Amino acid sequence: MNFQVLHFDSVTSTQDIGRMLLRENVVIVAEEQRNGRGRRGRKWISPVGGLWMTVILKSEKNAHILPLLASVVVAKALDNLGVKCCLKWPNDILVEGKKVAGILGEIYDTHVLLGIGVNLQNEIPPELKEIATNLPMVNKEKLLMLILELLENTLSLTSKTILEEWRKYQCTLGRKVVIEDDGTVGVAMDIDENGFLIISTENGFKKIKAGTLRFME
Ligand code: BTN
Repeated sequence: MNFQVLHFDSVTSTQDIGRMLLRENVVIVAEEQRNGRGRRGRKWISPVGGLWMTVILKSEKNAHILPLLASVVVAKALDNLGVKCCLKWPNDILVEGKKVAGILGEIYDTHVLLGIGVNLQNEIPPELKEIATNLPMVNKEKLLMLILELLENTLSLTSKTILEEWRKYQCTLGRKVVIEDDGTVGVAMDIDENGFLIISTENGFKKIKAGTLRFME
């Protein structure tokens, strides 16, 4: 497949450039984003030093699983570079319990935009230091190349295999969690074939399609 990588200095968001292009197998990388966005309408602070990228893919029937795949790919790439990390549902990448990278999947018609943000040499703002961290020793170009190589090698995996790979890297299942959006509390049991989280609550099992999860212990 071979991705075509386009580098930019400063953009509003690599997702915005991706949306304008909607050309499959093109990758947008920016030094900084002035209006980076995260999941669920949050802001994603993206100064110079981090890896801010969007991969444009053709939307196939497994489009909704691709953000999970992207999180596995980032975890594998970091693992390859000697960084121990794990996945918090749905697709946050944690190092020593703090978020180091996040994935934003957006579907526009026939295309999926996989937005990947990894904190590297960028400073974490003081107000986020309790929950987020960076990896100053990781080389951005090396990480980018590894991510693209691993993505290329795993895009053809079935949804079932992608979910199995996610399970290998996760540190969510078996833990007591709260879904901040609706207050669901319980033990995270598994993910289903859509990547939805199954939680065992005191009122029985509940499936969570999307949301923000916090570990309770
Ligand atoms: C999250 O965890 O909330 C997702 C964060 C995704 C951030 C990346 S950085 C590159 C791409 N462009 C954006 O504006 N967001 C994604």
